[in-house]
Amino acid sequence: LAAKIFEREISALSGESFFAGADYRIGFDPELKDCVEIAKAIVNSQADCIVAVGGGSVIDAAKFSSAIAGDIGDAELYFYQKKPLPKRKIGLIAAPTTAGTGSEVTRVAVINNGEEKRTINDTAFYADIALIDPVFTRGMGARLTAISGLDALSHALEACWSINNTPLTDLYAGEAIRLLASNLEAALKDPNDFEARSKTSYAALLAGLAFAVTKTAAVHAISYPLSEIFHLPHGEACALTLKEFLSINMSVRLRGILERAGADEASLKERIERIQLFAGLTTSLPHIPEKLIDRSLAHPLMKNNPVAIDANSLKNIFNRINENGKIN
Ligand SMILES: [Fe+2]
Repeated sequence: LAAKIFEREISALSGESFFAGADYRIGFDPELKDCVEIAKAIVNSQADCIVAVGGGSVIDAAKFSSAIAGDIGDAELYFYQKKPLPKRKIGLIAAPTTAGTGSEVTRVAVINNGEEKRTINDTAFYADIALIDPVFTRGMGARLTAISGLDALSHALEACWSINNTPLTDLYAGEAIRLLASNLEAALKDPNDFEARSKTSYAALLAGLAFAVTKTAAVHAISYPLSEIFHLPHGEACALTLKEFLSINMSVRLRGILERAGADEASLKERIERIQLFAGLTTSLPHIPEKLIDRSLAHPLMKNNPVAIDANSLKNIFNRINENGKIN
């Protein structure tokens, strides 16, 4: 079915029906130099459309590469957002194989350049078509299901407490929380539970639509330096501080959203912890370097957090995490 939809959509975009395959190995974080190579391949292939089938990193790489394909020479300027991205000239279809990032519906691409990780924001990154089929997520093992599912839960919660929240994003995010709270563990424990897989895929999409509007906040601001310094996968880095910020950012409004989603602070925290333990995720840091504190506080997403965080409060947060957690 997915292949048929691809073919139909590509036909609509290009006026012809054909597949030109390309296979680039993208790790957890797409590198600028790899995106430049992909952009060159896009130009050389004279393709009408790029189809990104993969996790958030693959989709982000496709978003950035297809946008810079019109002007590869200035890739670094686009990376540092010193120049507005050119309008994308070819079609882009994004088909996620994980249930988490929401990248298929956002205008964000997270790209690395060596040790530097940047969250680049541009309307050029919107895919023409987002194709969400839970069949694509069947290959995910427990660890990846947990990491991507906790990323989706972070998106939903951060959309709720971001200072940019709206009544409509609350609806999307609240439904995402309800679906994740009641299905993520089932998807984790039984990879063949297709009902649970379908619901987590849908939840990840809803969470993506919510945070595409609100942007994320402190949990994501901290996750980027955590990934840079400790090489933690994105969702694992988000999950590390999620329970703390669920308490810090708790409000009457958030309590109401959780209640309507059939959840509350305590049960959600227990659930997050069970998922972390089941999947063997890191719940503690070996040390708390100054650069982690500095880079977290300097991250622009920190401004979206409803409660102001300073160096002292952030160190206390990590100390509390380390008291209870363990390193995996
Ligand atoms: Fe995320």
